[in-house]
Amino acid sequence: MEQWLVTGGAGFIGANFVRYALEKHDKVRIVNLDALTYAGSRANLDGLPDADRHELVHGDIGDTDLVERLFARHDFQRVVHFAAESHVDRSIHGPAAFIQTNIVGTFNLIEVARRQWENQPGDLRFLHISTDEVYGTLGPDDDAFSESTPYAPNSPYAASKASADLLVRAYHKTYGFPVVTTNCSNNYGPYQYPEKLIPLMIINALTGKPLPVYGDGRQVRDWLYIDDHCAALNAVLEQGRNGETYNIGGRCEMKNIEIVELLCRLLDEMSPRGDGASYNTQIQHVQDRPGHDRRYAVDASKITEQLDWCPQTDFPHGIRDTIRWYLANERWVNAVMNENYDDWIAVNYSDRG
Ligand code: NAD
Ligand code: DAU
Repeated sequence: MEQWLVTGGAGFIGANFVRYALEKHDKVRIVNLDALTYAGSRANLDGLPDADRHELVHGDIGDTDLVERLFARHDFQRVVHFAAESHVDRSIHGPAAFIQTNIVGTFNLIEVARRQWENQPGDLRFLHISTDEVYGTLGPDDDAFSESTPYAPNSPYAASKASADLLVRAYHKTYGFPVVTTNCSNNYGPYQYPEKLIPLMIINALTGKPLPVYGDGRQVRDWLYIDDHCAALNAVLEQGRNGETYNIGGRCEMKNIEIVELLCRLLDEMSPRGDGASYNTQIQHVQDRPGHDRRYAVDASKITEQLDWCPQTDFPHGIRDTIRWYLANERWVNAVMNENYDDWIAVNYSDRG
């Protein structure tokens, strides 16, 4: 059995990846280190295939003793590092947790991994999961982000991820530590915490709340279905070259307002309002996000050409499946929308007008 350490594997992308990896590889055992913050949940791991090949360890990547114990106990061949604070708006209201987990936590994890690898050199690969937000923002006619686009992060979240990327890079240059970094665009799909655009809009619509579109809603994101991200990560783990970075994107640029209007149309069809009105009557333009990046677009030609990956799910199918999942999983939705969730909604939306 190969031993893999996955961090943040109880969050949105991590939990989908754990499911994907257990299905794809029958000779892999996963230790899943997750602090179970507001964004992580045991419910995200319910019904895992072959669950006895998965162990959830409730703990912090910043806890040196714990991470050392895990490395002493297991001969990890792969470290897949998702754990992070991930929401831009939260990083504006409270950046400290982002510095702690995304920078200090990543340092702690990679430093323990490096020491272990130097003592017992083996077939280790450290996959650091990052974001396209490290590149900053694009104008309407700019070329998409490539792996050589200079870093220019604009939010505390993006800056913390950029810092971690540079640290990981330095570990390869200085120590020869076997790392690969991926920078991915916006993901959507099942198990996404309803603070992010798509699940927030679905749930607000269904519960009769306003659909808060920041500013003019003409900001552009490049959307990728979660299963396609998992497949890309698997390709990088299997065939990526150490020291390289790979951009991952959906080739699917859409304006936020287009997404929200599409969600309303699909919900009108899939779960119509009792009064016969369209959900789009709930759309409200609210105060913009400070420092809001106008456009993201990813040039994923490197991973396509070198690792033969490209997205398989187009947006019309992926978004229908996503809505269907949220409609069918009311219990999950109710469980994650607890008091903490209400507090966050009040912090982020009450003063937006
Ligand atoms: P998420 O917020 O849904 O999940 C993060 C997970 O990390 C949670 O389970 C949380 O409990 C865990 N965690 C947080 N702090 C921790 C700590 N100190 N120690 C251990 N575990 C901790 O995030 P996500 O959307 O699944 O994103 C996962 C990774 O992918 C992040 O690194 C993020 O930057 C990156 N990413 C996300 C997207 C996206 O669209 N969601 C796109 C590109 C890259
Ligand atoms: O690009 C990759 C990044 O995508 C990841 O690194 C982040 O972890 C992930 O959260 C995501 O960041 P965004 O800020 O792009 O995602 P979010 O879902 O928060 O917002 C998407 C767009 O929708 C953005 O332009 C802000 C806007 N928005 C968001 C919310 C929550 C609204 O207009 N209203 C809202 O209520």
